[in-house]
Amino acid sequence: MKLTLGKSTKELSANTTLVVFVPSVGDSKKDKKKKSSLPSVSELDGELNALLKEAMTEKSFLGGEKETCFFRSCHVGGVKNLLAIGLGDKSKVTHETLRSAAATAHGVLGAARIPKAHFHLASALGGQKDGAGAVQALCEGLLLADYSMDELKGKKESKDDAPKFVESVLVPAARANAASMKKAIETAEILSECVNASRRLGDLPGNFMTPEILATEATNLAKGTKIKVTVWDKARIKKEKMGGLYGVSTGSGHDPRFIIMEYKGGAKTKKPVIFVGKGLTFDSGGISIKPSLQMDDMRYDMCGGANVIGAILAIAKLGLKVNVTALIPSTENMPGPLATKPGDVLTFRNGKTVEVLNTDAEGRLILADALCYATEQKPAAIFDAATLTGAIVVALGNTHTAYFTRDKKLGAQIEAAADDSGELVWPMPITDYHVGDMKGTLADLANISSYRGAGSSTAAAFLEQFVGEGISWAHFDVAGTAWAVGNRLPYCPKKGASGAMVRTFVELAKKF
Ligand code: BES
Ligand code: MN
Ligand code: ZN
Repeated sequence: MKLTLGKSTKELSANTTLVVFVPSVGDSKKDKKKKSSLPSVSELDGELNALLKEAMTEKSFLGGEKETCFFRSCHVGGVKNLLAIGLGDKSKVTHETLRSAAATAHGVLGAARIPKAHFHLASALGGQKDGAGAVQALCEGLLLADYSMDELKGKKESKDDAPKFVESVLVPAARANAASMKKAIETAEILSECVNASRRLGDLPGNFMTPEILATEATNLAKGTKIKVTVWDKARIKKEKMGGLYGVSTGSGHDPRFIIMEYKGGAKTKKPVIFVGKGLTFDSGGISIKPSLQMDDMRYDMCGGANVIGAILAIAKLGLKVNVTALIPSTENMPGPLATKPGDVLTFRNGKTVEVLNTDAEGRLILADALCYATEQKPAAIFDAATLTGAIVVALGNTHTAYFTRDKKLGAQIEAAADDSGELVWPMPITDYHVGDMKGTLADLANISSYRGAGSSTAAAFLEQFVGEGISWAHFDVAGTAWAVGNRLPYCPKKGASGAMVRTFVELAKKF
């Protein structure tokens, strides 16, 4: 979608579709200043205000969150169509409200086949001081909602020539700072482009997304940026003693890859922030095979990997002055003649041994070697993202991404980063009790807990055994949030990958 900054309300014409954002009228008895909740379209034309006021008086549109009212061919105030988008309670409008409202507008305009719309920024900003952040969020809402995954659809027989919604013009408030608006748009464009690139990788099904393809895609996406990409093949993975990644891969006909992406935007002496992402391109469960129901969802088991790829891309494109590395261990988890069997013992890069009691608990096995490698780089901090456990979906559903860390300062930084990006995270426990549950019988560790419950915490405790002493580390379990969150967030696809944590990771990187 084309997104530009307009000059002023003067460029609106008899052909224009204007989008205005309207806070709710509230309780009419209490709300004496009812008129003031109307958007400041007065700078355009009083006719528009009158139209909105009438709709509100008749209660056909009250400005509630997600409420919309499309006045098609109303021809008032010098424009053709007017689309009013509700913002809810004026005092509770956040950047997230605007992100969602813009996405809702995108949906209405698309359905109404309006090719181009003007967005009235003054009505969206209300009295907010931080105009740039609000504009950025609004643009993110539009651009994230614009994502669709059509590349696997067959050629259409009848040519659909109905217009699509393809262009947005932001009409700035009077006296707006054009430079800061432009910067906000640019930032939103970079973030959304990288989130959408990550979603596409997530959406590609197993036969279009093998470890080899993921490595090629990462290499291609990094072209034109300062990111250096190194890819290890199966022989190299074995030589590098990554017994977990290797052990998970042997049941598959597709070879594994270990993808290393390095961006050096900071001083040479500055330690890197390392993001590790689970790149399991299809998780059948292996010999401990999964039931058929929704097994196809396991195409999304590389979303952690896709999301750290999206994050490092955005960090590089924004030119952040940090050193960042993204590591993506990538393999399929399949049953096969050479597959790892329940009870098999694997030896990891740091020399620890693990008995694989359930081959479906494979994510932790491939992440373990990557965490060893990350530890060797003497990082400032390590963050990993993985669709690790079904248990976290039971605990938190698809609203919050769970994070696990024993580092209080890091926890506070994670909360702040998520807040700044508008993503939801929730802290979960990781203790020595959980570590105790992961002890092995024949080997140092077992890959599943010896006790019932707390499956996400014990998985985190397992990962912790591969992070070097004293290194700041947090694990993000995105199993509930990596896909199918569109029921909550209008700027995310209903069924497909969400790109969860890409924006939070970009904010996190800024803190180092
Ligand atoms: N990729 C799955 C986790 C998962 C399941 C994510 C459902 C999203 C939805 C992971 O590899 C897995 O299979 N975990 C097992 C671990 C268990 C065997 C200890 C699980 O959660 O069932
Ligand atoms: Mn599994
Ligand atoms: Zn998995």
